[in-house]
Amino acid sequence: MEDVINVLSRWVHVGTAIVLIGGMAFQRFVLLPSAAELPDAEHDKLRTAVMGRWKKFIHIGIGLFLLTGFYNYLGVPTPAAEPIRWKLYHPLVGTKILLALALFAMSSGMVGRSNAFAGLRANPKRTLTIMLTLAAIIIGISGFLKVGGAKAMRAKISVSNPEL
Ligand code: HEM
Repeated sequence: MEDVINVLSRWVHVGTAIVLIGGMAFQRFVLLPSAAELPDAEHDKLRTAVMGRWKKFIHIGIGLFLLTGFYNYLGVPTPAAEPIRWKLYHPLVGTKILLALALFAMSSGMVGRSNAFAGLRANPKRTLTIMLTLAAIIIGISGFLKVGGAKAMRAKISVSNPEL
């Protein structure tokens, strides 16, 4: 049963990343340049309709990321635990979480109405480029956590069992 939940949690976590980051890339490289060709009134109408729908994806997505991310971090043994004690794990995961929180704040600001984020909404091309760069770094760190953790585990096993 535990394995089922662990697989489900990774599935939802990675699936959320695919949907949200894919949506951001589509907006930055397809929707924004295409919408720029429309007259202002139509562009504004399209922006309101798109943001109204995308907002739900962002809010549900952030909830799923937090739920599954913290389950993967706190509920599943990590390579930082005994007996592996991979020292890079916590600094890397901590950096990833901070970057993810920045990405969540920017994503909510883009679909919300808060004045604090008006500057981000005024230049959506630049903001989406920054968000996609943040996402690429986060995904890179996540991949390194996976690959580096597995390597630390293999190294530990071969030290404790030299015959392997
Ligand atoms: C606060 C939010 C988040 C937390 C706490 C979190 C935590 C985690 C943890 C613990 C893992 C497992 C790493 C391992 O194998 O040891 C993971 C995997 C992953 N995370 Fe997150 N994450 C968060 C947000 C995000 C975001 C925003 C993205 C995408 C931009 C993302 C993308 C991924 C991917 C792609 C993997 C799978 C890596 C792999 O298995 O190769 N995560 N996450």
